[in-house]
Amino acid sequence: MKLFVILYLCSLVISSSFAFDPSPLQDICVATAEPKNAVFVNGKFCKNPNLTVADDFLFRGINIPRSTNNNVRSTVTMVAVDQLPGLNTLGISLARIDYAPYGGLNPPHIHPRATEVIMCVQGELYVGFVLSNQLGNRLITKVLKPGDVFVFPFAMIHFQLNIGKTAAVAISSLSSQNPGVITIANAVFGSNPPINVDVLTKAFQVDKKVINDLQSQFSNATHN
Ligand SMILES: *[C@@H]1O[C@H](CO)[C@@H](O)[C@H](O)[C@H]1NC(C)=O
Ligand SMILES: *[C@@H]1O[C@H](CO)[C@@H](O)[C@H](O)[C@H]1NC(C)=O
Repeated sequence: MKLFVILYLCSLVISSSFAFDPSPLQDICVATAEPKNAVFVNGKFCKNPNLTVADDFLFRGINIPRSTNNNVRSTVTMVAVDQLPGLNTLGISLARIDYAPYGGLNPPHIHPRATEVIMCVQGELYVGFVLSNQLGNRLITKVLKPGDVFVFPFAMIHFQLNIGKTAAVAISSLSSQNPGVITIANAVFGSNPPINVDVLTKAFQVDKKVINDLQSQFSNATHN
């Protein structure tokens, strides 16, 4: 009887450990009854393993410097499941970030599905993240030099600014095959269609003109 009770309790523990839903692997995955409209299965379909080739596991060229000729003067080169199909279901990805001298910025953003570990490879980066409301939105920052590694915890707002005189380069690992990115300014002021001005004037405690300026500044930003 005692053994039976122990086995019963064990089975409860085991079944409850299967009670979690898997983490989402993309922004949205709306159910469809129509198979011809189906695209993803919380991630991607899997290739027949017997048909995989070495190139499915390879991405070349992360050593190549990218142009930083844009508004923020930085460029992120992602190597996630869309660029490297072999990453599917493996929960990891990588990025190279190039920053122009004197102020190239990877602006405040979050990854909705990942923690990020960043390594400064070249140059001098002022990096930081902001803790959540519960922890008083405390800002945690550091200056990184080559060889320094820093972590941006899961889903926290974070940024990197090149404070050096030379171009800077960083390599990041992210704990998702598809970390996603939400650039705060672009999402809030450049949404498509725009967020009602009354929402943003109250949220940011400024008048309409400030919001209109910001919305026109970001309305032409690329949505990707
Ligand atoms: C892959 O190859 C193995 C060994 O040859 C075979 O047993 C298996 O059925 C194949 N799988 C598929 C999905 O074709
Ligand atoms: C949008 O266009 C304006 C005017 O051409 C430009 O000054 C601004 O930098 C652009 N903003 C973005 C985010 O692309």
